[in-house]
Amino acid sequence: MHESENAAPRTAGHDLPPTPELETFMTRGWAASPPPTDLRVPAAALTAARRARLSARFPGERLVVPAGVLSVRSNDCDHRFRPHSAYAWLTGLTGADQAGHALVLEPDGPHGHEAVLHLRPRSPRTGSGFYRDRRHGEFWVGRRPEPAEVESLTGIRCTPLGTEAPLPPGRGATTDSELAAVLSELRLVKDAWEIDELQRAVDHTTTGFEDVVRALPRALAHPRGERWIEGVFDLRARAEGNGTGYETIAAAGAHACVLHWTRNDGPLDPRDLLLLDAGVETDGLYTADITRTLPLSGRFSPVQRQVYDLVLAAQEAGIAALKPGARFRDFHRAAMRVIAEGLADWGVLKSREGDLHRRYTLCSSGHMLGLDVHDCAQARAKAYLDGVLEEGQVLTVEPGLYLQPDDETLPRELRGIGVRIEDDLVITAEGARLMSDALPRTAAAIEEWMGAMAEG
Ligand code: GLY
Ligand code: MN
Ligand code: MN
Repeated sequence: MHESENAAPRTAGHDLPPTPELETFMTRGWAASPPPTDLRVPAAALTAARRARLSARFPGERLVVPAGVLSVRSNDCDHRFRPHSAYAWLTGLTGADQAGHALVLEPDGPHGHEAVLHLRPRSPRTGSGFYRDRRHGEFWVGRRPEPAEVESLTGIRCTPLGTEAPLPPGRGATTDSELAAVLSELRLVKDAWEIDELQRAVDHTTTGFEDVVRALPRALAHPRGERWIEGVFDLRARAEGNGTGYETIAAAGAHACVLHWTRNDGPLDPRDLLLLDAGVETDGLYTADITRTLPLSGRFSPVQRQVYDLVLAAQEAGIAALKPGARFRDFHRAAMRVIAEGLADWGVLKSREGDLHRRYTLCSSGHMLGLDVHDCAQARAKAYLDGVLEEGQVLTVEPGLYLQPDDETLPRELRGIGVRIEDDLVITAEGARLMSDALPRTAAAIEEWMGAMAEG
């Protein structure tokens, strides 16, 4: 499944073939290029301990953790590459230039492993790939570090990716379900560096939300205002970090009742709410995941506020249930109890018991957060869904009410309102710390914040 290293250069149909004279000329007259000065692996000092924890779980077995491969968008154009999260976590290498690379843990005696990075070597100036190969040629995509440079940055032995031989056989991080599960489970508790990185992601996301509120007048005037909002947030994400951690959800009016509305092609009506669910992913590849539901006029209508306040009360109950030793499901149950009671108080549900409230809430109230937005997704139920919370875990609490526009069980005035409030929290020794507290959450604080932003 690895890209072939000895394949012909990847060129495009409109590339002019070189003459033999040019080919010869291109091989001469190049000075040694200096190592890049901007190469950094901030997590390098942490990765040996992570690999040791993994090694201890698979004595005597070869483990293969690929960074992943480029995927074609069309013809000679690839999608932007992001390394697999397990690879990034174990190596500290997070750049797009990791495509095709792999970390191999070679059994080293009966217990330990030796880590070896299989990397694409630099483009030799003797062939034509360096100036013709659009996928890997260094004149197309930039200089790669020498294996020795990566070795000194990561502390991991490096070897060139085989030109003929594929990677050695072994348990694969994406193909072996037990290895995938263990890798997810090892990442459940974040270390202090990861929590700082997540805080950076949250802080940049806060700035992105502020950008969006400032941009509302232009977005409201645009026929596809949702797209304008997506663009404003994504600009911040790309400027401050690697990009967004997932596709931005900019959902106005009844679009907010679609949980993952990423078409973002609707207009904005000042009488509606805007649900913005967005997260900046840092260069270290950690992402935030925050939702705010904002009145596009700057003020909630009474019925919008009624829905908002119930979701907020549910979120408060969920957050209050977070503490080490609590079951993962407890915060969801606490939030849903508030929703079910609220719906019964409104007369929408006849009973507070049972699970009929799920017609209006649709999804669970939160998930682990880290390198992936839905982090540690391969962790087994015992460690995650049926497990207990531990200090250092980071998760979202995100109850919502999605009152579909065509739902005849609802009073007319409630139809078409969607509200989600989503925050990021780290479990501490005593309870949980709200990492996203720089963004207002109550209806009154949101109105005040939007007003201040409009004046500024
Ligand atoms: N943004 C996806 C989620 O909230 O889970
Ligand atoms: Mn989420
Ligand atoms: Mn979200």
